[in-house]
Amino acid sequence: MKKTTDFLAMKENGEKIAMLTAYDYPSAKLAEEAGMDMILVGDSLGMVVLGYDSTVPVTLDDMIHHTKAVKRGAKDTFIVADMPFMTYHLNREETIKSAAALMQQAGAHAVKVEGGDHVIDMIHYMTSSGIPVVAHLGLTPQTAGVLGGYKVQGKTADAAEKLLNDALKCEQAGAFALVLECIPKQLAQKIAAALKIPVIGIGAGLETDGQVLVFHDVVTFGVERVPKFVKQYANINESILNGLQQYVKEVKDCAFPEERHTFTMKQEELAALYG
Ligand code: KIV
Ligand code: NA
Repeated sequence: MKKTTDFLAMKENGEKIAMLTAYDYPSAKLAEEAGMDMILVGDSLGMVVLGYDSTVPVTLDDMIHHTKAVKRGAKDTFIVADMPFMTYHLNREETIKSAAALMQQAGAHAVKVEGGDHVIDMIHYMTSSGIPVVAHLGLTPQTAGVLGGYKVQGKTADAAEKLLNDALKCEQAGAFALVLECIPKQLAQKIAAALKIPVIGIGAGLETDGQVLVFHDVVTFGVERVPKFVKQYANINESILNGLQQYVKEVKDCAFPEERHTFTMKQEELAALYG
């Protein structure tokens, strides 16, 4: 690894952590080349690359498959892999096995799990077994069903208090970083100040220790509507579509391939061929 992976020091020094998801070789390669501090192989891949309506159908095998590709594309970047729905809930043994597969088979440096409550115990068990864990609180897409959809979390004083407490428990359980998704900026600021570990926000304002976004949202690739917290830095839908439409047209018009895309035979070989 050429870059620092001392994310705690980055927080202490006030250097923001830039994180992006990636799901395959080319996206990982570009994320690394752009200077990302951390890459997340998010289970958002279920939605943005596999076309499911939620992250729930994503399997451990899906995550292993995509993490391997990301690893090949970004050999010098710290890679976090999401643990899919219900792979860290049943019991400690299942949890450890799932996390170990993401690290040993797929090459992730760390895993990420959603939620407080009983997940805290799993975070403790994993970290004390040597598995680096990122926690994820606030809007946790795997449990959007019980949160009442994709909504801003922690807006009331009670909900904010619970989130702060959960965040502290994640830190105490040994998580080395925390993702906070879709919460008011004031709460994110309070949590980031209360924790020693870096807090990486997505829809959590500017006062966190870093930011994470979904690759396809950032470059507008395949996605149609994006959440309010996304900034679209590029629109590759447009350039891909333009290119593809031009290709169709040129095939129909016999404008492609041109001479420079075409192989030829020597005159004497041609003469021999046709006798
Ligand atoms: O799966 C994902 O992309 C995530 C980020 C939104 C944090 O969990
Ligand atoms: Na995720």
